[in-house]
Amino acid sequence: MERTVGTGGGLAAAAAAAATATATTPTTPTGARPNSATPRSVEPGHIPSSSAEWQERGAAVAVREVSGEDGNVQIRIIRKGVKDFTFGRVLGEGSYSTVVAATDRQTLREYAIKVLDKRHIIKEKKVKYVNIEKNTLNRLGDHPGIVRLYYTFQDERSLYFVLDLAPNGELFSFVKKLGSLNEECTQYYCAQLLDAVEYMHTHGVIHRDLKPENVLLDSNMRVKVTDFGSAKLLPMPSADELAALAQKRDDDDHRPRRADALEIDESERANSFVGTAEYVSPELLTDKFASKPSDLWAFGCILYQCIAGRPPFKAANEFQTFQKITALNYVFPPGFPAAARDLVKRLLVLDPTKRIQIDDIKRHDFFKGIEFGPALWKRKAPRLQPFNFRQGVGHYVLK
Ligand code: ADE
Repeated sequence: MERTVGTGGGLAAAAAAAATATATTPTTPTGARPNSATPRSVEPGHIPSSSAEWQERGAAVAVREVSGEDGNVQIRIIRKGVKDFTFGRVLGEGSYSTVVAATDRQTLREYAIKVLDKRHIIKEKKVKYVNIEKNTLNRLGDHPGIVRLYYTFQDERSLYFVLDLAPNGELFSFVKKLGSLNEECTQYYCAQLLDAVEYMHTHGVIHRDLKPENVLLDSNMRVKVTDFGSAKLLPMPSADELAALAQKRDDDDHRPRRADALEIDESERANSFVGTAEYVSPELLTDKFASKPSDLWAFGCILYQCIAGRPPFKAANEFQTFQKITALNYVFPPGFPAAARDLVKRLLVLDPTKRIQIDDIKRHDFFKGIEFGPALWKRKAPRLQPFNFRQGVGHYVLK
C-alpha cells in the first residue's frame, strides 16, 4: 500500500504555484488505492535555485506501507523525481507537452511520462488546465479503462505526470491501418470505451475531447482513455449519492430528461471552442455548453468511425465540419450493419436531452451478449479485422 503525500517544491511564482506545488498523486504502482494525499509543506514564496534543490524539493513523496513477516506494518518513504526514471522513446507530442516512455530504475516498471513545459504553460495561461488534468486523473484512479496517474513531480523547466503506459498506442492507428473494424471488434472496443465513460460520468467528470486518438490500447489490447486536459470536473458525488444515482437510473430509465438534468453550470459556458472539430457536439457549437451527453455524441462518432473508417462529419475545413454537425448532415455507407446504424442514429441526436443515455446504450441490440462491468475487462481482445462491406451490402440487399 502506498500513498503520495505531495510533490515538493513549487512554482512558487505567481499563478504557477497553484498548478504545481500541490500536485499530488494518490495512486500506487501496485494498483492499490492510497489512504490519503496531503501536500508536503513548502515555504510559500521559496523557489529552488539549483538543480540539486529542485531534485530534492520537486520530487513526489510517497508513503509505502509494507507488511513485515511478523505482521507489523512498516512505513517507508519513497521519493520519485526525474533521476529515478530512464527516459526512452517519444510516444506523442501536444502543444504543451510531450509523452515519453520511461522505466522506473528501481522497479523496472514501464510508464508513460507526460512532460509539460512550465514556461509555455504560464505564458499561454494554461495553468488551470494542468490542474484540471491532475485533479481529474486523481479522481479517476480506479478504473481499468482509464490511464492512471502514479506520481507528479517537477524540476526547473518541467512538470512530470507519471502515467500508465499503453504500449499498443492509439485505437485510431489500427482503424486507419485496417480501413475499418468489423462488428465484433467495434463492439468490444466501444463497450470498453462506454464502460470507462460511465465511470467518468458517475464520478463527476466530463471528458469533452473524446476521439479515437485519445483511446489508447494496453499490452492486452484493452482500452485506456487518456488526455483529460479539456475535462470538466463536476462536484464529486458522495457514496450515498452514488448509490441513490444507481437506484434512480433503474427507476427513471424511460422518463424524458429536463435540461437542468444536464448539470450545466451557467458560469462554465465555453467562450471558445474546446475539443476536436470532427467529434464536437452540436450543443457546444450552438449554445456553448458541454455536458455528459456531449461525450455520448463523441462516442457515437467513434462508433461510426470504427465501422465506416472515417468520422461521420468530415469536411475540407473546420467551419464546414461545424456546418455539417449542426445540420446533422451525415450518411451511412451502404452495408453499414443495422444494429450499429440504429445505435448511431440514437446517439447523433441534435438535442442533448433526447440523446440515448448510457443504460439504454448498454441494453441496445448492438451490445447484445456483452456483460458490462469487471467481466468486460477480463475478456480476451478479438483478432483485429476490418469490416467486410461487400458482405454487408450483399446481406443488406438480400434482406
Ligand atoms: N501517448 C500518450 N499517452 C500515452 C500513454 N499513456 N501510453 C502510451 N502512449 C501514449
